[in-house]
Formats: sequence, C-alpha cells, structure tokens
Amino acid sequence: MAVATAPTAPTQTFEVRRFDAPVGAEIIGLDISKPINEVDFARIHRAHLDHHVLVFRDQRVAPADHVAFSRRFGPLEIHVLHQFQLQGQPEILIVSNIKEKGEPIGLGDAGVYWHSDISYKDKPSLGSLLHAQELPSEGGDTLFADQHLAWEALDPALQKRILGLKAEHSYLAKYEELRARNPWRPKLSQAQIDQVAPAIQPVVRTHPETGRKALFVSEHFTTRIVGLPQDESEALLGELFAHSVKPEFVYRHQWAPHDLVFWDNRSLMHLAAGTPDALRRKLYRTTIQGDTPF
Ligand code: OGA
Ligand code: MN
Repeated sequence: MAVATAPTAPTQTFEVRRFDAPVGAEIIGLDISKPINEVDFARIHRAHLDHHVLVFRDQRVAPADHVAFSRRFGPLEIHVLHQFQLQGQPEILIVSNIKEKGEPIGLGDAGVYWHSDISYKDKPSLGSLLHAQELPSEGGDTLFADQHLAWEALDPALQKRILGLKAEHSYLAKYEELRARNPWRPKLSQAQIDQVAPAIQPVVRTHPETGRKALFVSEHFTTRIVGLPQDESEALLGELFAHSVKPEFVYRHQWAPHDLVFWDNRSLMHLAAGTPDALRRKLYRTTIQGDTPF
C-alpha cells in the first residue's frame, strides 16, 4: 500500500526519458506502490509540468495504490457515471469495452472525441491517471495533443482575436449522439443531469503552475463561443478544433502491459484511437480535481 506522504523514505532510482515526440516522457524504475519521498515526488512533479504526459512503466500495483498515488497530486473526482465505478473503490472509473452477461463493465467509448477531462465543470480536472489492466492485441492507442504548442503556433492575429473569449462546455453536448451509437450508455438520471450543468471557460487558459498559455476548447464538450452569432461561433470553433490536434502537437501512446499514464488536463487534449469490437480492453482511471481556469 502506498503511503500518502513519506518524507524519510529511501530514494528510488528512476529515470525520466523524453519521448521522440512533441510531448511526453516515460518513467523507468519507479514503483508507485512504494513510499516516495519528497525529493523523488518533486522530480516527478517537475517532469509532469515539463512533459505534460508521463508513462510510468511496469506498475504491477493494486487499485488502492493507484488511488493513493493519484491523491498526492490533489483530491480526486468521482465520475458522474457512477455505474462504472470499481466496486469498493469509487475514485476509480472503469474504462472498458468489455461486456459481461450483456452488461458493460465500464465506459466503452471514453474519449472518442478530442477532449480535456471534466472541462464541463467549473473546476475541470488537473490531470488523470489511466492504468492498463487488459490490453487488446491491436488498436487501443491513446493520443495526446499539446495545447501550449497549439496556442504558440496560432497566427498572431487569431491569437489576438481569441484571447479573452469564453466558451461554453457541456457534458451533454454529445451524450445523446453517443447513446444512439452505443445503446449500452446509461440513460442519465435527473440527479446526474443536475451534476453536469454547463460551465463557461476561457478559450485560452493559463497553466496555474507554469504560467504558459494553452488552447482550451474541444470537439467533445465545447458547444459555443459566448457572445458570437452561431455561424461565427461554429466557424471559429471548427478552425480551432482542426488546428489544435495537428500531428506536430501529438504523441500517440501505444499501451504496454502495466503502463500507468498520467496526463495534465490543463496542457493537453486526448483521444481514444479505438479498439476493434472483438478485442477486450480495460483500464482504470483516477481523475484529480483542478482549479477554476483563468
Ligand atoms: C479517459 C479517456 C481514452 C482511452 O479515460 O479519460 O479519454 O484511450 N480515455 O481510453
Ligand atoms: Mn478522457
């Protein structure tokens, strides 16, 4: 079991290796279920701010360890789809295409559109940690797009136009469309709908820890730019969506057994590339609460 804080724990020997990609790094040699002292934790934190997505290799750890490690970065969210909580561990959302006795065991179509987790709440997520449990023999990759690079590569005239704009984000934006495609998606109760009232977010946000600006609109959750006529709003969002996920901003993660992937939702968007229906895929997700974007 991981210990919440371990100031006197021995140093763990681990390496941070940058990917040959616009974003991301892997962490080799760390065991997140062993005590992590403050010096090691500071190294991990720094690497996360520098690379935005960290792949902790070979984490043969229990859900409780995944939760305890996640908590060191902040309080955890409980996902609105409580149907897909791991039994006895409500902080874990099961992301899976597996059905048992005809019933889905998890969210099977998480991330089919580019998004940043929980951007539809006033306080979106700081970051999410996804831990591989069962991987398909092909497919199932996850893509990450660096929204700092996307912002920095925008034409200065467009930067000027969008700085200061706000947009609405809604969990319900694509829900019924996804439910029509995937009828196993649960019908939301009124209590669930009440939990996901739309939020208004800046189109360009500032990372609270690094001060870097990032684009913060997504195909999945952003419905409109506040104060623009609908056609202008759609045209602008379409342009930003297309720009934000250009290949030069993207790292494509091919999962290896026991990978634990920790990304920064304030810096990145992500997308599930998709898994062939006949192949099983199961991952466990924790989601760290973040601050109000500015
Ligand atoms: C998520 C998500 C993508 C994937 O769990 O938040 O978007 O590849 N997952 O499973
Ligand atoms: Mn997601």
